[in-house]
Amino acid sequence: MITNTEIEKRGNQQPDHIVDFKQENDKLHFTTQNGVILELTILRDSAIRFRYATEHVFEPDFSYALNDDVNSGYNELSVEEETAAYIVSTSKINIHIKKSNLKVKITDKEGTVISEDELGFHWEENYDYGGNIVKMSKVCHSGESYYGMGDKASHTNLKGKRVNNWVTDSYAYGKDQEPLYKAIPFYVGLNQNMAYGVFFDNSFSTYFDFANEKRNVTSFWADGGEMNYYFFYGPKMGQVVEAYTDLTGVPELPPLWALGFHQSKWSYYPEKKVKDLAATFRKLEIPCDAIYLDIDYMDGFRCFTWDKQRFPDPKKMIQELEADGFKTVTMIDPGIKIDRDYWVYQEAMENEYFCRRADGPHFKGKVWPGECKFPDFTNPEVREWWAGLYKEMIADMGVHGVWNDMNEPAVMEVPTKTANLDVRHDYDGHRCSHRKAHNVYGMQMVRATYNGIKKYTFPKRPFVLTRAAYSGTQRYCATWTGDNVATWEHLWIANVQMQRMALSGYSFVGSDIGGFAEQPNGELFARWMQLAIFHPFCRVHSSGDHGDQEPWSFGQEITGIVRKFIELRYKLLPYIYTTFYKYIKDGLPMIQSLVFYDQEDTQTHFRTDEFLFGEQMLVCPVQEPNAQGRRMYFPKGNWYNYWTDEVISGGVEKWVSAPLHVIPFYIKEGAMIPKYPVQQYVGEKEIKELEIDIYFKEGMENSEVYEDQQDGYDYKKGRFSLRRFRLRGKENELIIQQFKDGNYITTYDIFKLSFHGLPFTIGIVEVDNEEVSPEDIKLNGNNSIEISKDFTELHIIGK
Ligand code: NOJ
Repeated sequence: MITNTEIEKRGNQQPDHIVDFKQENDKLHFTTQNGVILELTILRDSAIRFRYATEHVFEPDFSYALNDDVNSGYNELSVEEETAAYIVSTSKINIHIKKSNLKVKITDKEGTVISEDELGFHWEENYDYGGNIVKMSKVCHSGESYYGMGDKASHTNLKGKRVNNWVTDSYAYGKDQEPLYKAIPFYVGLNQNMAYGVFFDNSFSTYFDFANEKRNVTSFWADGGEMNYYFFYGPKMGQVVEAYTDLTGVPELPPLWALGFHQSKWSYYPEKKVKDLAATFRKLEIPCDAIYLDIDYMDGFRCFTWDKQRFPDPKKMIQELEADGFKTVTMIDPGIKIDRDYWVYQEAMENEYFCRRADGPHFKGKVWPGECKFPDFTNPEVREWWAGLYKEMIADMGVHGVWNDMNEPAVMEVPTKTANLDVRHDYDGHRCSHRKAHNVYGMQMVRATYNGIKKYTFPKRPFVLTRAAYSGTQRYCATWTGDNVATWEHLWIANVQMQRMALSGYSFVGSDIGGFAEQPNGELFARWMQLAIFHPFCRVHSSGDHGDQEPWSFGQEITGIVRKFIELRYKLLPYIYTTFYKYIKDGLPMIQSLVFYDQEDTQTHFRTDEFLFGEQMLVCPVQEPNAQGRRMYFPKGNWYNYWTDEVISGGVEKWVSAPLHVIPFYIKEGAMIPKYPVQQYVGEKEIKELEIDIYFKEGMENSEVYEDQQDGYDYKKGRFSLRRFRLRGKENELIIQQFKDGNYITTYDIFKLSFHGLPFTIGIVEVDNEEVSPEDIKLNGNNSIEISKDFTELHIIGK
């Protein structure tokens, strides 16, 4: 253990003994002799904010991460003073604060330690910039594991790793490369089956060391700002993630087309190429909902302009694409070309919207158009202006969605790849340098974009995509994991990144399918597609300079496989939409790592490959060439093989067959999975009946189906349809109860129920206590029946 003298030698300072304690409602202040104040805020019984000041002074309290309407309120709060410590108690945890040095220990109500400070809060004065480098160190208990932290391309369990959050353009990044595009300083710890979370809400460059430097210490620190973190206690991981997600927010429901398949490339141009692409999708009957225009649609890379040679009449093109079921998504970057004849540049200059260097000149950096200036999106006035710039593109031209790229901001030809650290920012009135604003710059850009798109697409719903993100960015937009590479290792990376992002409160996420840099072969492309249809955002994108990456670019066999999986995505849309709805309602990640699904099973703590998509699908991608199958771990429960209906009981690792046209894909026993017919795009067909696959279980299981108009805001006025099903299977019978909510009338009247694994032959069928004849329900062998969607109880009895 390091001694105090050693700490001082290294320039570190630590709190000494507590000389004052004050309580004001939900806020407690502990002040030490040497001027440190620890402010505890009790948000919920198991969500506590820890904030430390030095020299008795807190910074103004401001954060971009937080959601406006956070749930707060606790049942119990008491403070007891003991000889050596103060003990703060809520109904879920006790927080011990040591009088001699302000160290914190958090226990559950039985006294078991969940988390405890090692050195605890300490700091180092920053002579170059002023302020402090603020640090926190905690004991890492043996067997403790760590998850979360956004887009890190590392093993899902971060134990033994050190990571850095500094949003960075990371072209062709590698496994374990740090830092990447996002800064999500939130982790979930798992100690003795108790899950807790730490969200270090500090927008400076932050570092987390998970027992990398020292075996039994986990620490985090920042280059400036305050030691300001939130502690969430579970004990279940789900509760921790829900609390973090509640604090930092969730998006609105996307339009359903945003959950369809999207095709992108750098770049599709001119117009004819785009139209040919669209026509090929329809000709080959491969479903697709959106086509992306990368930077080359612009006039010399000037944002909010069109290259009229390449796209002479964009409005007409967008309309024609729309008539064929395609949405158009365009790219907008933050760098504004320095060009005195360019209206966006002029407006920003006239209104003083560009960022300035410390000594006054504008900050300039090279991006696609050459020398650019960069709007200060941390200024609310600039955000409003930026939102307004989308009017023509969205309201007049009819563009359906926008992706914001390079918003770290990425700057070319400089070693730092970004803005200079002395660049000044408004930070919503808390003026600061780029050191503090860097990690939120892209977030504030996409926030402004979202506000504009939302305004001009209304009454439809907005769709926005970002590359850079800080905690809370999930409120505004979907995101992708940037410039990955067409390698098998990157398929592995994509899988862990999606799991990690979802656990970090950001579920609407996807990778560039097939890889952005370099060229996949057909096998890799097919395997990637098989995985990516189980990612919330499902888009092929590639740099385009190595060859084509369309579903039909790899020969007939691969085209067939890819079509089959995109079709499966479209069939599963009601399940995916319902999963999105649950994410928004309960903060439940759309993708769950196995450890999230069953933290009690220590086998899951180091699994990377298997994951749950929603609550009832288990997926395990094939990540190697020439594989005919692979080993995978089945967590607790019984799982139906989607392709064969074979049932596997969890708790085992098994070899499963997976030739190229198959991904290991399992459905939880008891699940009721809603399906739509294959459509070439969302809304192509009126849904005439809802197919529901029922996977028999002896016992109980709940399922839900959420539906609405698939776009627009009527659902907020109650026009949604939420069906909850309770399935109870017994040896010789099956009972399904339905509970309905909302007043959206679905376009179909009939459910087609398809049975899997029914252990008996159907004899009698009763709907709401009345027996129905086999003809009336179109009883098809033992396989399926059709019944009115409005039943309350369905009772099937074996012969
Ligand atoms: C970098 C982005 O990550 C990539 O997706 C895009 O194609 C290029 N910029 C060009 O705009």
